[in-house]
Amino acid sequence: MSAELMQEPTKDKFAVVGRNISKSFDKLHVLQDLSVHIPRGVTYCLLGPNGSGKTTLMRMIMGLVKLDSGEIYVLDEPLDRISLVYPRLGYMPQQRPLYPDLTVQENLEFYAGLYGIRGQERARKIAEVLQIVDLSQTQNRVTGMLSGGMYQRISLACTLINNPDLLLLDEPTVGIDPVTKQSFWGYFRELAKNGKTVIITTHIMEEAERCDMVGFMRNGIMLAESSPDELKKFAGLKKRLQMKVEDPEHEMAKLVAEGLEVSRVGDQLVIEVTEAGKMRDILDTVMPVDFNVIEPTLEDAFLKLAI
Ligand SMILES: Nc1ncnc2c1ncn2[C@@H]1O[C@H](COP(=O)(O)OP(=O)(O)OP(=O)(O)O)[C@@H](O)[C@H]1O
Ligand SMILES: [Mg+2]
Repeated sequence: MSAELMQEPTKDKFAVVGRNISKSFDKLHVLQDLSVHIPRGVTYCLLGPNGSGKTTLMRMIMGLVKLDSGEIYVLDEPLDRISLVYPRLGYMPQQRPLYPDLTVQENLEFYAGLYGIRGQERARKIAEVLQIVDLSQTQNRVTGMLSGGMYQRISLACTLINNPDLLLLDEPTVGIDPVTKQSFWGYFRELAKNGKTVIITTHIMEEAERCDMVGFMRNGIMLAESSPDELKKFAGLKKRLQMKVEDPEHEMAKLVAEGLEVSRVGDQLVIEVTEAGKMRDILDTVMPVDFNVIEPTLEDAFLKLAI
């Protein structure tokens, strides 16, 4: 693929391109002929059930796990030359990545040192990233004694120290309070607007829904890469018409006689509908006391695709 994918105009277009990636740990097939295409300047959510291979894929993109077969390009460099782009990457692992006995300041200095950031520049960057995560006052606290959410915020601060072009954030918002979460997402969107690429994993559907793109993984396979709305279509989800009726049994019988699939919850009837015209016909037939059109959610798509 190198020749094909590295040709203009693909170059500079993707932050990550991977094809035919397979990986087994002993006899466990963790990734199976997986492909991934992550454009630059987007927020991209890796979504999938526990154990579907999201962390393994992220670790591969960082060059931390070897592929059995296939290839990955990161910022247009193949994995065997990944050291060339390391200074432009930021990785926040799922497992607790900081030294617990060091202070927050010392952890940040350690990360800065990895990227050769020293002196006044280091002091400036540390102050900047602490401000982004709104924890400037924790500088001298021992990292292992921080609360779970604060720890996550400092981990993110460390990941941002080198102003990376490509961020890989493995469940960065676990344990984060809603206000801070909101500000993190504002920041991620801002990064993408400025041309940075943010790859993120989360099990919170509202967060996945905010991403430009979702890559849905199941059993080590990439089922789909698309916008959240496209993913709902891919899962075959339709709008549902929910109607409150006076005589549910009678109305249900009428609809079933028309060949419609209807479900009933108390005095509510629910039908999947695709066309607006069909919806009008149903409403004319049933004349409900009240009705609601329910849009499919990403959670519905997850539940459908995860099995
Ligand atoms: N180093 C390893 N040795 C053996 N098995 C591993 C190793 N790393 C990952 N696995 C296995 O690979 C599978 C995928 O794990 P991975 O951590 O990539 O999943 P995930 O999608 O990130 O899950 P989660 O949502 O729970 O974080 C799991 O069955 C896991 O136990
Ligand atoms: Mg994981």
